[in-house]
Amino acid sequence: MILYQRGALVCLFTVSFLLFFFPTDENFVCFTKHEPIGVCGAIIPWNLPLLMFIWKIAPALACGNTVVIKPAEQTPLTALHVGALIKEAGFPPGVVNIVPGFGPTAGAAVASHMTVDKVAFTGSTEVGQLIKEAAGRSNLKRVTLELGGKNPCIVFADSDLQLAVEEIQKGAFFNQGQACTAASRVYVQEQVYDEFVRLSVERAKNIVVGDPMDPRTSHGPQIDQRQFEKILELVSSGKEEGAKLEVGGCALKDRGLFIQPTVFSDVKDHMRIAKEEIFGPVQCIMKFKTQEEAIDRANSSEYGLTAAVFTRNVDRALSVSAALQSGTVWVNCYNALHAQAPFGGYKMSGNGRELGEYALAEYTEVKAITIKLTEQLRLI
Ligand code: NAI
Ligand code: MG
Repeated sequence: MILYQRGALVCLFTVSFLLFFFPTDENFVCFTKHEPIGVCGAIIPWNLPLLMFIWKIAPALACGNTVVIKPAEQTPLTALHVGALIKEAGFPPGVVNIVPGFGPTAGAAVASHMTVDKVAFTGSTEVGQLIKEAAGRSNLKRVTLELGGKNPCIVFADSDLQLAVEEIQKGAFFNQGQACTAASRVYVQEQVYDEFVRLSVERAKNIVVGDPMDPRTSHGPQIDQRQFEKILELVSSGKEEGAKLEVGGCALKDRGLFIQPTVFSDVKDHMRIAKEEIFGPVQCIMKFKTQEEAIDRANSSEYGLTAAVFTRNVDRALSVSAALQSGTVWVNCYNALHAQAPFGGYKMSGNGRELGEYALAEYTEVKAITIKLTEQLRLI
């Protein structure tokens, strides 16, 4: 009987070996269970209000958690509309809870609440630090943070230059530069630097700015007055610090919060536009000589969210990718985000990963169950 039961046990664990069985010393069997964490708080920004909502609730719900989500004060309606759809789809009451409000009140309440078991945040590094602090001071809730970026792109002389110009500029101006992935530091090897600048300026001049509801445009306004002024102030600092303004650099006259696609060349690493997250349509181009120099300069940032490498040499692509301190490295492409691939930051760009299987790990507690096998073991 005991033998039979042991056989059944061994069989059970062998079948599920790939999932959760771990070899242990001596007479033990050990397996893990991934359990829901419980109530997951989410605090999201305004720049991608639908996408961020889904990135947060999908893995949380898939792992059996409930969610309390606070949309940004600039964009509450997107979240409330999704809330209506969630209701219509028949989710049980209480599974997704939406609490619109301001950061220091509604947001801080989520981060410091004693019965919220985890908080996932996307936004500024400054507020990310407050969230972690609040979690530490309350119940040590699990924290994942997706914060800012000052994302380097390295363009080698052997790259497909036209492709590099296209991809990097799409990355710089996507969503009017209001993206944590914005391609905001572009290092170009000296042999192709002048040509890269010339093509980038030409492309920027052809971007049609205007009403985002008009299909002929591809570049709309900034989110609000505060961001608009922050961007223009950083553009002024670039001019004052000696960068060369090639195109753009100002608002459209009489047209609200539109800022022209802006390209700076001759940018130096110490300038504010090379160090701070601008979150606006400003491309900063720098020159480099050697691969080692480009890697050092790309890594000399407090951020480490995304990076890109443009080269036709596979060895170089792989060795530079390995050397970059960045959660994502794109080779010969930009903003190539896939639901299956993890996304998140090194250094002050955050903790944890979103998307794919890695995201599921952020929404579960792992329980190890270890059974000692004895002659007396009885299975029911
Ligand atoms: P923020 O980080 O203040 O806002 C993001 C979210 O955090 C919003 O829902 C806000 O209500 C909430 N929040 C603010 N203070 C909070 C607090 N004390 N406790 C809990 N939640 C709080 O970002 P903001 O002020 O809208 O933009 C400032 C800069 O942050 C931008 O210029 C940009 O550089 C960066 N940013 C980065 C984003 C990213 O995707 N990584 C998204 C939005 C902003
Ligand atoms: Mg703020």
